[in-house]
Amino acid sequence: MNDRAFLKSFAGLIVALVALTVVLFVVAQIIGGKPSKTIESTADAKALVERIKPVGELTVGATPVARATTATNAVMDAIIPSANAAGADDNKGKKIYDTTCMACHAAGVAGAPKLGDKAAWAPRIAQGADTLHTHAIKGFQGKAGMMPPKGGNMGLKDDDVKAAVDYMASQAK
Ligand code: HEC
Repeated sequence: MNDRAFLKSFAGLIVALVALTVVLFVVAQIIGGKPSKTIESTADAKALVERIKPVGELTVGATPVARATTATNAVMDAIIPSANAAGADDNKGKKIYDTTCMACHAAGVAGAPKLGDKAAWAPRIAQGADTLHTHAIKGFQGKAGMMPPKGGNMGLKDDDVKAAVDYMASQAK
């Protein structure tokens, strides 16, 4: 094979390889299509976040408690609508008693004077209504036990507690 003949067939080979390259490139485009899916909609993005989010989440303190308090307040509001309404309600004291104070004062839990127990209430009533109101609102450590401020229901207004005290005192006369 002389140089001329070699160059000729070599040039032919180069042309063939270039043609093959072009063909392969076109075939690759047809088979591969678009590059793999991009996130096109927010729905896709949300679904993606759902799929890859961690199994559990650690929530610290405040949030659940705050939720519980809100829920409790909503329930309390539903049970005692009059507690938040302005103006006198004859049944207000009884309602407050029934929802908060009864827990201890119905059965005499932890030394609480029972509702209607005249002997237990007489010396207390003798202290005067102001003292009873203050003890019920601010809390009171007596000989018998511990009366928690507002019976432990800090959602109550001072007036609510006073009404409940007046109701309890009225039941022991
Ligand atoms: C967790 C239990 C508990 C709850 C709830 C509770 N009390 Fe009492 N309360 C007591 C105890 C115990 C005493 C007695 C303290 C003593 O004299 O040693 C008491 C005493 C009192 C007294 C007498 C205070 C005095 O000076 O002698 C009043 C008035 C009173 N409670 C009002 C209320 C009212 C109003 C509520 C509801 C808003 C309420 N209590 C809810 C436990 C409770």
